[in-house]
Amino acid sequence: MKVLLIGSGGREHALALALAKSPRLTQLFAAPGNPGMAHIAQIVALDVHDSAAVVAFCQQAAIDLVVVGPEGPLVAGLVDELAEAGIAAFGPRKAAARLEGSKAYTKQLCAEFDIPTARYQHFRALQPALDHLAQAGAPIVVKADGLAAGKGVVVAETVAEAQAALRALFASPGAEVVMEEKLEGEEVSFFALCDGKTALAFGAAQDHKRVGEGDVGPNTGGMGAYSPAPRMDAALQRQVMAQIIEPTLRAMAARGTPFSGMLFAGLMLTGAGPKLIEFNTRFGDPETQVLMARLEDDLLELLDASARGTLAGRAVKFSKDVALTLVIAAQGYPGTPRANGAIFNLDAAAAGEGVIITQAGTKLVNGQLVASGGRVLNITAIGKDFSQAAGRAYAAAEKVDFADGFYRRDIGWRVLR
Ligand code: AMP
Ligand code: GLY
Repeated sequence: MKVLLIGSGGREHALALALAKSPRLTQLFAAPGNPGMAHIAQIVALDVHDSAAVVAFCQQAAIDLVVVGPEGPLVAGLVDELAEAGIAAFGPRKAAARLEGSKAYTKQLCAEFDIPTARYQHFRALQPALDHLAQAGAPIVVKADGLAAGKGVVVAETVAEAQAALRALFASPGAEVVMEEKLEGEEVSFFALCDGKTALAFGAAQDHKRVGEGDVGPNTGGMGAYSPAPRMDAALQRQVMAQIIEPTLRAMAARGTPFSGMLFAGLMLTGAGPKLIEFNTRFGDPETQVLMARLEDDLLELLDASARGTLAGRAVKFSKDVALTLVIAAQGYPGTPRANGAIFNLDAAAAGEGVIITQAGTKLVNGQLVASGGRVLNITAIGKDFSQAAGRAYAAAEKVDFADGFYRRDIGWRVLR
């Protein structure tokens, strides 16, 4: 099969490494890709937001399957455009990607189909939102309705903080905001591979969303992750499949917008059972880096089965080993990251046992690898337990020479304690 992978982050680099292991793969293309993938994929300079250009490339290169990594092209309808041209793609169509693209859409679906989630209200104007806040009080969670790269959420501990968040969000014309009850508990990222009718549990991970050690400071796209998630035992997994994933799949099919692709449930394990924080309609980043490190299965075959609606009866196999990943970010992230910092010594760092380095925000300038984004590198390691995996990952991170970078020293604290 000839496969085109869309995206350029650490998630896509991890997917590329897994796809490259498939005996079914004849050629892998990546658009826009990153320098780390260049030894396994042909990098294609395509604007992935120009769906006509993507379709034209697929026709000319006789692509058998397009694997879409990030949410942007999914929400914009790339899979619909490909389907119209008869090109198979992994990922949901636009109407089903609303599960990630609109928080209000998902909250309403949860209400209609009894899917456990935080109580919420939806607002289109500032004053009613302020009035609701005055009555509801803090703590309270304020969220932009649309895509925000993991940064559109404020968990406000005080009314003043919530007011400031509302004013900031409603400063953009046409803003819509969801306010919801703050859930207490441990967060888990749970994945289910779907083909419109069938959902296959695809493992769990935990990530660290806050930028600072001790899980403090602003939210990021994710500063590190590990898998499996010890709290997510077989019974809890069955409960999540039965109460959250399967009802969502049935609801989407009943609405005439079946969900196909990766359904990523951000869960809060509360005292009253697991509750949905949000859906993403794609693989997680950096969760994919740890899931792919543990996958002992043919990723290409699985994604192709999702795209073609043939997942029924399939199971997916993961290693008993555990995996942990660190994100090395550029100073300034999640604000404005410092650009163009030089990176050295990746090969030596990657030589450690069980270590896999993936690139995220990097580019080559005159042959020198430099930073070009907020999250720059992921250092992943597998091990027989979390202390071994963390030891390997941190030893490798020490060897990376990237003066502008920083990483959290406490990734996995829950499982290392
Ligand atoms: P989201 O983009 O909806 O996943 O939110 C980003 C992060 O904000 C989540 O991973 C949680 O850490 C936090 N968060 C969102 N909603 C809630 C909630 N209702 N209660 C507590 N924390 C939340
Ligand atoms: N790590 C969270 C996400 O991919 O949205």
